[in-house]
Amino acid sequence: MFPQHVIARKRDGHALTREEIDAFVRGATDGSWADYQLSALLMAIFWRGMTSQETLDYTEAMMRSGVVADLSAVPGIKVDKHSTGGVGDKVSLPLAAMVAACGVPVPMISGRGLGHSGGTLDKLESIPGFRTDLSLDAYRAQVAKIGCALIGQTKDLAPSDKKLYALRDVTATVECIPLICGSILSKKLAEGIDALVLDVKYGRGAFMKTQADARRLADALVKVGRAGGKRVRALITAVHEPLGRSVGNALEVAESLACLRGEGPADLMTVTNELGAHMLILGGVASDMTSARQQLQRSLSSGAAERKFREVIVAQGGDGRVIDEPGRLPQARLTFILTAPRAGFVADVDAMGVALAALRLGAGRAKAEDRIDPAVGVSALVKIGERVTAGAPLAVIHANDEAALAEVRVMLAAAICIGDQPGVVPALIAETIV
Ligand code: URA
Repeated sequence: MFPQHVIARKRDGHALTREEIDAFVRGATDGSWADYQLSALLMAIFWRGMTSQETLDYTEAMMRSGVVADLSAVPGIKVDKHSTGGVGDKVSLPLAAMVAACGVPVPMISGRGLGHSGGTLDKLESIPGFRTDLSLDAYRAQVAKIGCALIGQTKDLAPSDKKLYALRDVTATVECIPLICGSILSKKLAEGIDALVLDVKYGRGAFMKTQADARRLADALVKVGRAGGKRVRALITAVHEPLGRSVGNALEVAESLACLRGEGPADLMTVTNELGAHMLILGGVASDMTSARQQLQRSLSSGAAERKFREVIVAQGGDGRVIDEPGRLPQARLTFILTAPRAGFVADVDAMGVALAALRLGAGRAKAEDRIDPAVGVSALVKIGERVTAGAPLAVIHANDEAALAEVRVMLAAAICIGDQPGVVPALIAETIV
C-alpha cells in the first residue's frame, strides 16, 4: 500500500479502511512513511475529519503500536482520570490518593506537557527522591500492592503518538478532534484500565477555549472510549481563573497535601470530589453520587487518603516526610508579596496571565527540552469575588532570579484586577456525560 494513495483518498474525502489506518500508524512507528507523508495525511485528516469508526480504528492502531499493560491479575475495577489540562490543575495528586483509599485501584500514567507549569510528573518529581520512571512491571506490582501508581509514559507505550504528536505540533494539526481522541485514548487504553473519567476543560486557561468545543471533544472521547470497551464518563469544567491558589510544581504539591488534610481550596476540592465520585461509581464501590461523596469525605477525615499518598511517595522512592513537613519540598530563594493597590473586590484573575507569569519564573517549559525549576511559581492567589482591603496580599511570588521576579511583579499585577464589583465566574462543573 503506497502512502500517497492513502493520502489521496483522505484528501478526496473518503473514509479510510482499517488496513489503511494500520499502514499509516505502522509507518509512523517504524519510520517506513516519511515525515512529509505523515504530515500530509495529518493535514488531510484535519480538513476532512474522520468517522467514528475511523477514529476508533486509529485509536486502537495507536494503542497496538506499543505494549498494552495487562492489569487483569490486579483485583478490582481499575479506574483512571484524564484531564485535558488547565492552569493550576493538580487534581490528579489528591484524587488518586482519595480514590485508592476508598478501595478503587488507580493506575495512572501521566505526561509532562508543555506550558505554564509542568504536568503531573513534574509536580510529583518536585518531591525529593520521587521516581516516575518505573517499568511497566514495577507499575503493575505497585498497583497490585498498594492500589495506586503514578508514573510517566514509558517509551514502549503508544510510541506512534510520540512521533505523530511531534509532527502535529509543528504542522498546525493539533486542534483536530479525531487526532486528539487517538492521541489521548491510545495512551489511556494501553494502561490496562477498565474505566476512565475524563475532565475536559474549557476557558481561557485551557486547551479548548469554548464550552461547545469542549463538549464536542468530550462526546468524541466518550464515544470512542466506550467503543474501545471501557466504561467512560466525562465532566466539562471551566478554567476561568487558576484552579486552587497555587501555580508552580512544588507549590502545587503543597496545595495537594493541604487537600489531603481537608484544607484544600473550595474550587479545587469541588472538581476533585466530583471526578472522584464518578470514579467510585465506575469502580463499583459506590452506588450513587451521595454515597460516593461521603466515602471521599471519610477518606480525608480518617487520614486514609493522606496515608495512601505517603505510601505511594515512599513506594516510588520519595521522601514521605513531606506529608507532615511540606517545608522539605524545594523552596525558592526569593519571595515577594503582591498587594492590592486599592480596596474593592477581586474582579478578575486571568488564568493565562498567571500561567505566563509562572512560565517566566521557570515553572514550565516553552520547549520540550527546557528544564523546570520545581520551587518557583505563585501561591496564595486571591479568587475572583473576594473582598480585599488596600495593601492586602493578592499573591505570593516565589522566584530564584531577581530579573524574573521584577518582570513577574508587573505581569501578575496586570493579571489580577480589583474593581468595585465582585467578578463572576462561570459554573465550575459545566456539564456531565454519564
Ligand atoms: N493531549 C494529548 O495527549 N494529545 C493531544 O492530541 C492533545 C492533548
